[in-house]
Amino acid sequence: MSDLPQDSAADATTRVVAVTSSPSADLLGVPAGPVRLSWRVESATPGSRQLGYQLATLDDAGDLVAQPPVAGAAAIGIPAPLPLAPGERRSFAVRIATDAGWTAWSAPLAVEAGLGGEALAASVIGIPSEEAGPVPLLRREFPLAGGATRARLRVSALGLVDGWINGVKISDALLTPGWTSYQERILIDTYDVTSLLREGENVIVLAVGDGWYRGSFGFARRAGIYGDRIGAIAQLEIDGEVALVTDSFWRGGFGAVRSASLYDGTAIDLRAREDGIHHPGFDDSGWRSAEVVDTDLSLFEPRSAPPVRIVAERPMSPTVRSGGATQLDGGQNISGWVRLSVVGRAGETVTVRHAEVLEPSGDLHTAALRSAKATDTYILDRDGEHVLEPAFTFHGFRYAEVTGAQVLSATAVAISSDLAPRSSFSSSHAALDRFHENVIWSQRDNFVSVPTDCPQRDERLGWTGDAQAFAATANTLMDTRSFWGSWLRDLEIDQTDEGGVASVVPDIIRPVDMMMGGVPTENMGRAGWADAATIVPLSVYESYGEVEVLERQLDSMRRWVEHLRRRAGDGVVLPTEPFQYGDWLDPDAPGDRPWEAKVSSDYVANAFYVQSTRLLARAERIVGDDDRAAGYDALADRVAAATFDRWGEEAITTQTGAALALEFDLAPAARREEIADLLAANVRAENGRIATGFLGTPLVLFALSHNGHLDEAYLMLLRRDAPSWLYQVDRGATTVWERWDAILPDGSIHSGAMDAVAGEGHEEEENSMLSFNHYAYGAMIDWVYRNVAGLAPDLDDPGYRTVHIAPRPTDGLDHATASIQTSYGRLAIDWRVDGDAFAATLEVPFGARAVLDLPVTDASTVTVDGAPAGGSVGHGIHHLVVTAPAIARGSAAAENASSTLTGSSI
Ligand code: BGC
Repeated sequence: MSDLPQDSAADATTRVVAVTSSPSADLLGVPAGPVRLSWRVESATPGSRQLGYQLATLDDAGDLVAQPPVAGAAAIGIPAPLPLAPGERRSFAVRIATDAGWTAWSAPLAVEAGLGGEALAASVIGIPSEEAGPVPLLRREFPLAGGATRARLRVSALGLVDGWINGVKISDALLTPGWTSYQERILIDTYDVTSLLREGENVIVLAVGDGWYRGSFGFARRAGIYGDRIGAIAQLEIDGEVALVTDSFWRGGFGAVRSASLYDGTAIDLRAREDGIHHPGFDDSGWRSAEVVDTDLSLFEPRSAPPVRIVAERPMSPTVRSGGATQLDGGQNISGWVRLSVVGRAGETVTVRHAEVLEPSGDLHTAALRSAKATDTYILDRDGEHVLEPAFTFHGFRYAEVTGAQVLSATAVAISSDLAPRSSFSSSHAALDRFHENVIWSQRDNFVSVPTDCPQRDERLGWTGDAQAFAATANTLMDTRSFWGSWLRDLEIDQTDEGGVASVVPDIIRPVDMMMGGVPTENMGRAGWADAATIVPLSVYESYGEVEVLERQLDSMRRWVEHLRRRAGDGVVLPTEPFQYGDWLDPDAPGDRPWEAKVSSDYVANAFYVQSTRLLARAERIVGDDDRAAGYDALADRVAAATFDRWGEEAITTQTGAALALEFDLAPAARREEIADLLAANVRAENGRIATGFLGTPLVLFALSHNGHLDEAYLMLLRRDAPSWLYQVDRGATTVWERWDAILPDGSIHSGAMDAVAGEGHEEEENSMLSFNHYAYGAMIDWVYRNVAGLAPDLDDPGYRTVHIAPRPTDGLDHATASIQTSYGRLAIDWRVDGDAFAATLEVPFGARAVLDLPVTDASTVTVDGAPAGGSVGHGIHHLVVTAPAIARGSAAAENASSTLTGSSI
């Protein structure tokens, strides 16, 4: 390594401040196999850079065993030495070389692998139980000779599992093992239970719920989707030796939880509580021996993405209503439940119902829940105070109503897949800030094990269209890498042999007949939904710079695009389909036929075919091969030309049609300016009225701003009248609505009525579609980070290694501050327009390069750190000043605008 400094040269001004891994070291018991390392560096030396790096492992004595140094600036997703063996724990350290010499070694990072099902000595066990019936409890007493130095409990279930050792919960993880495509993979959790064990007799108890495995789920409310028998599997290892496994020596019975359903809620009868179960000597004579549930243990694989946990607790304010019920308001729409403290009498039933909004009468609005009962009940076993909390369920709600006892206090318990927040944003525009907050909440509330459409009604499914629309925003707001990684594996598992991609992942609706407007609907391969197969991986790659996601998904992406190519056959473009979701929920579509958007769904389908093919070409270029990439680019060009020829003229008269033509590069280069002008004119004529559905919404602001129409983008972004993003905020929204007009301008609630029938036995009156917590329309937050804050990653040099600093002030928005925890470290900006100057403080992490694209006019001067400059800057904190800055004129127009609504649904 002649280019690298001598070992003796030390750079004391530079430090490796954090090392992270994939799979994440934050999880105990990750999949065995290769580990990749990334690191963040801080340096007090301006202009310093990484010339090379060195990795080390720690041996048993804790001494570093260094690998040969490697030249280069790479710091993201670097393969660590040797794959992890099952159950192995290994620590890694990193140091880097700069021009000044080598840094000190980083603090070590320990990664511990779990065990797959095949390596377990345990069996899945259960007792006979009914779907929607009492929750089985499985129990075992076991003696231990002495204190353990390291105890690991591995747990999973067919269903959901909670566990206690000696009466203490084994983990704060919830709804474990979470939802995956169970027919091929079920996650297994590893917990450190060292501190829960004691010398002498110990007691372990597992409770098993129906959950997604057996509970009635999906709008067709099918039960037993994955199997009729639920059960749990567990293995306790003490200092590496198997100490206890689930087997037929366990005993099983029932307790207080009389039923638990994800949609319907939990029924708890405290009179049936088995108080002694957590103590040795419990009389289990009324219980029975556990049975082994015949299961293919190779289904169980170690967890690779964070579990669901409690992410917030909020006090709820009570109001006693005229009938005596207590209504609770948590002030925020969440996914979770109510923890209640009540005073009541023995034998009384306490009932807790939930809703996202209130009727004008003040009653809970529960129609939107459709068949989901979202009701928890508790029968009290004695007079006095009780703390009540459900199990194996969650609800989407802001309000709750309690009958049957006097409420002392109530807490709204919010749950989510426990993803680290990644960014922050605030500005001088309070409503925009609130919308940003609402989008974060919608992400939290809907990232519950899988990315769901909504958390309240009888769906909560991993709709792929919603996921692709929101992916870029999701990636900016939270560290989503492993969450998407796990879900994308299920997407691939659920692909058909012909490469078709499901509309929901995990796919539980494929076998269900669904009628949309009288047309039987195939739920595979729908445009803008199935394209999650390509759009999500590329968006993760752009945001985090890790090539792993493309390597893993390349085959799935290819199969999807080849599937489209086969469908198109000799005709180049896709043939007209009997049904497409299209630009779903276009505000001008009939309210009960949200698929009837203004823009042709055949045009939309082919636009997504083009985009998927282009994204695949990119992925091929990065991890596949150039020849294939060139082939796919050529295919995309052919389909684009044919699509534009056939549908383009009509499509570009709609916002979504024009946005697709521009953003997916369908239109001939010579027509782009004209199309952009047409789109801008449309937006101006409509005073910024949004006229896009799920597929057009993520694109329309980009289509404007990429083509010189920033004013119109702001006109749309900051509009307050319906339909618009901020209209929701003015109507008190705390999450993002499914329909632009979920609450109508006269204050009434949309009926949500739908001309669709989903599955057998689905009652007409339950057939509405009205959620107040769908993130798809929140997808514009990605635009806000890139254009308002001005922090934009670059797909050609991803992970914010090259970041474009392009803040765009507008009238009515003269200040913004934002940060993103990038793969390289903290990227942050704080800008303000003051008088005739734009001033910004910019923080760039080590390893990144910030390309300045400041809001300049012909009259501007630009200084960086006091000196005339431009171009790009490296790491450190920089002060930027632009005189006579460019100020977009959007919001002034919006404020003066009077509503000229033409849509049929508002
Ligand atoms: C879901 C959507 C989904 C759509 C597909 C709805 O019921 O809630 O978000 O994408 O169906 O048509």
